[in-house]
Formats: sequence, structure tokens, C-alpha cells
Amino acid sequence: MTEQLHKPGFETRAIHAGSEPDPTTGAVTPPIFATSTYKQDGVGGLRGGYEYSRSGNPTRAALEECIAALEDGDRGFAFASGLAAEDTLLRSVCRPGDHVVIPNDAYGGTYRLFAKVALPWGLEHSAAPVADVDAVRAAIRPGQTKLVWLETPTNPMLTIGDIAEIAGLTHDAGALLVVDNTFASPYLQQPLTLGADVVVHSTTKYVGGHSDVVGGALVVRDLELAEKIAFHQNSMGAVAGPFDCFLTHRGLKTLGVRMERHCDNAEQVVAFLEDHPAVTEVIYPGLATHPGHDVARRQMKRFGGMVAFRHADGEQAAVDACARAEVFTLGESLGGVESLIEHPGRMTHMSVAGTELEVPADLVRLSVGIETADDLIADLDRALSGG
Ligand SMILES: Cc1ncc(COP(=O)(O)O)c(C=O)c1O
Repeated sequence: MTEQLHKPGFETRAIHAGSEPDPTTGAVTPPIFATSTYKQDGVGGLRGGYEYSRSGNPTRAALEECIAALEDGDRGFAFASGLAAEDTLLRSVCRPGDHVVIPNDAYGGTYRLFAKVALPWGLEHSAAPVADVDAVRAAIRPGQTKLVWLETPTNPMLTIGDIAEIAGLTHDAGALLVVDNTFASPYLQQPLTLGADVVVHSTTKYVGGHSDVVGGALVVRDLELAEKIAFHQNSMGAVAGPFDCFLTHRGLKTLGVRMERHCDNAEQVVAFLEDHPAVTEVIYPGLATHPGHDVARRQMKRFGGMVAFRHADGEQAAVDACARAEVFTLGESLGGVESLIEHPGRMTHMSVAGTELEVPADLVRLSVGIETADDLIADLDRALSGG
């Protein structure tokens, strides 16, 4: 993009950052560089720094530049999945014997990574409620805690953590704050601007936005930390391939307009559920009754497309409602243009059953898509009424 005096707006960055027209052909879309290696002009004579596609690939570089620009970061890194990004980060900054504070309500796969992979390898963790700043502070072990890991909103309970406040106490303890920004997306929340050190994404979700590709990303500002991550990205090799990067980057360009519609539809779905007799509780940070509403209003542009609710008739009724929905597709994942419904206890969060992260059995999670809102509401009405 031509150097401008003012910082381009979010949508301009989404469409242009990393997307300079191809110098050879003028193609406006970054090509898919389906190549594993690059011709050298004499030994060590690299063109544009590219030598091998695990170390660097122009299609991946375009995506990495774009997501870094949208998160207001300096360096972005694209991985084969969100969990690959998380694992690479852990091994970049932690060593056996270190300690990490994690949310007591988080994506089940993230918990499994800490509990079943990192712990046997020697990385200890404590779970703390992200909404309780004092509990997060108390969970830190001075000198041993290297990371505080935050999801906000959390998956699936949509709990809100105060990023700026937790960044302060994390830094006081000499640790780094990691924020998984998957649920909000950079359109609604930019954790690095609030003091976080690392942003994590499952780009599989809102960033890609079309349920057609799995991927992950890390974004940082600190260049020393960026060098560590770049070294581990190349040394561990869990990189995103060029076809996946192309799809993810294509999705990212429309993030702003998609998120506005996700938020509009979620608000309508929430209003409908609040009045439904089969629903005992609607969980959405946009509700004034949500305990994290004020913090969410401060740190998020709007409140997102994820909604959770508890079924008045218990677990089986929640499971049955999920199965009856038709416009809402019964499935795991979230953040795509199509609406999804799921039962976290038996699906995405089965791996936390019996742990401190166990979710309520009567909980239903919705990823509200961008279809016509009336059709979504009619579908939920049918699913909840049993007909
Ligand atoms: C909040 C959050 N973080 C991380 C992940 C892991 O990402 P991936 O499935 O792309 O590995 C997920 C997946 O659902 C998620 O919901």
C-alpha cells in the first residue's frame, strides 16, 4: 500500500495489507505459490529472501502481513491450525519447570494441550476464572509463571476478562499475556492495543470465515519475541500451506462486513431466546445483565456472533434441540457464514468432562451466521418447541 500520512481504516487494511498487485503480472490477488523451493541466483542468491517454503512462502507472507496489520501488531505467523500456533508459542517461550495460568473456561482442545501434552512435558498450569482479576493474580507463581493465557470471550461460557487490567498484573509479575482472540476477531477487539503481548487465533473461525479451511495465527509487537517465534515456526514446521493461506486471506478481506452481520443477527437471536419459556438463561456479553458487559463494552467494538443458552428441561432436551435444528447446522467449529448449533458437553468440550473446566450439561452453543435473521429465529423456535 502507498505510504499514507493517516493510518488506513480496518477494512482498507483488510483488503490491501499484504495484497500489493503481483509485480510480474499485476494480478490484484496474491497468487498461490505452490512451490516447495526457489531457484537461487548463485549459491545464497535468494530472490526476496525465499529459499524453502517451510521457512517462507509469499502466499503465507501475504496472509501474515494482513493479520498483523489488522491486530495492530508488527509480525504475524500463520500455522496449520490454531493448536499448532498455540504449541509453537508454548515451546518458544516456556521450558520444563515453568508455569502458565490458564482460564478455567476455555476451548477444550486448548485445555487438553496444557493438561495432556504440555504437563507431561514439564509445563505446569493453574486454572483461574478470567473475570476475577484477583483470582488471576493469586494464581501467578512469581518467578515461575511465564505466561498468563486469556480467552475473552471464553469458549463456551462467553466470560469476559479485562485485558488491560490483566496485562498490568501479568507484567508486574514479569510474565507475558497471551490473548486468544478467536471469538472476537480483530474487527471487534485488538488485544495488543490493550497491553497483551501475543494474540492467538484459530483462523479456522471468523478470520477464514467460510468453514473451508483449518489454520492458526500468532501476532506480536515485540521483535525479540517475534524472532523466537519465527525460529520455532521454522524449526517445528507446523506452517500453513499456500492453498490454506490463500483461502484464509480471501476470507479475512471481508471480516468487517461479516462481523457486523454476525453481531446484528446474534442480537436478534438473543432477543428471541430471552423470551422463550424453554430457555432459563441466555449468555451474551451484549446483555446488560451479563457480568462482563461493562468490560466488554470498553474493550470490544460490538459483542460478537457467539451466543450460549441453558435449556430449562436439562441435558437431553438440550441435545434434542440441537438435533432438531435445520438452518442451524449441528456441528463443531464456529465463525463461518453459516449458523451452527452444538452441545458443548458432548461435543467441543467433551475433553474437559470431569475437570475444573467442565461445562453445564444443559448448555447449547450457537455460532450465529449471516443468513436471514427471521429464518434463524424460526428455526430455533421449531427446535426448542420440539416440532
Ligand atoms: C477459542 C479457540 N481457540 C483455539 C482453537 C483451536 O483451533 P484449531 O481448531 O484451528 O486448532 C479453537 C477451536 O475450536 C477455539 O475455539
